[in-house]
Amino acid sequence: MKLVHTLSDLRDHLSAYRHPAVVPTMGNLHAGHLALVRQAKPLGDITVSTIFVNRLQFAPHEDFDTYPRTLDADCQQLEAAGCDLVFAPKEAEMYPQPQTFKVHPPTELADILEGHFRPGFFIGVCTVVLKLLSCTQARTALFGKKDYQQLMVIRNMVKQFAMPVNIVGGETQRSEDGLALSSRNGYLSAAERQQAVQLSATLKTVAEALRTNTVLDAAGISRLESQAMQSLSNLGWRPDYVAVRRQADLQPAQAGDAMVVLAAARLGATRLIDNLEV
Ligand code: PAF
Repeated sequence: MKLVHTLSDLRDHLSAYRHPAVVPTMGNLHAGHLALVRQAKPLGDITVSTIFVNRLQFAPHEDFDTYPRTLDADCQQLEAAGCDLVFAPKEAEMYPQPQTFKVHPPTELADILEGHFRPGFFIGVCTVVLKLLSCTQARTALFGKKDYQQLMVIRNMVKQFAMPVNIVGGETQRSEDGLALSSRNGYLSAAERQQAVQLSATLKTVAEALRTNTVLDAAGISRLESQAMQSLSNLGWRPDYVAVRRQADLQPAQAGDAMVVLAAARLGATRLIDNLEV
């Protein structure tokens, strides 16, 4: 496996390939990222992973400075998973001058849910993903379904810009108790880690209620959302949202739609997100 830090080395290395399959990451990798790398393997003629903690998608009060940078361990894991090339640029390589050209995704998709609680987040994500896909000449790119809204925003961006990239979603990887794997799980104390399963358990309860009660109207769905928020609060979480949405466009769901339940909540100082398709 080759590790490169500059665009010029990246381009030199990629010149022999026609179909890079790319897994963009911010590093601090876990089994979810590695599953994406393994999924990428048969989809291209070279498997590339990018590691870049993207300042543009962090608000000033968020964890950009403390986000774990674990390049050596990440590279060992990537090599074992079959990655061929890692692009790990320094900030000055990605943003040699202030990034004043930015991608502004549409309000109805990007200012709801995560975008509502993290204003500007998807501008940062879209801008860096557009740039990373362009730098790596990706023909296939893989993103985890745990970041459900992110995957949808990126799919739509690539479609509207007619980029020649096939976007592939990877299933959420979970610990045995059901907690979705996330780089931010490392912030949880031992006691919080025990408790963290309550988020996926709450989603399961809502999903189960939707499956068994297929005639729910908007008020019934809204009641389920409020009950789930309340039950998380009672357990000591600070939920941002529990929302039942249409899988197709993340707008409020109605009976008969293919649905997804999405949640974001804080446990202590750690904000976790998760979702379940119904
Ligand atoms: O999901 C992530 O790790 C990041 O948002 C991404 C897609 C690598 C962009 O920085």
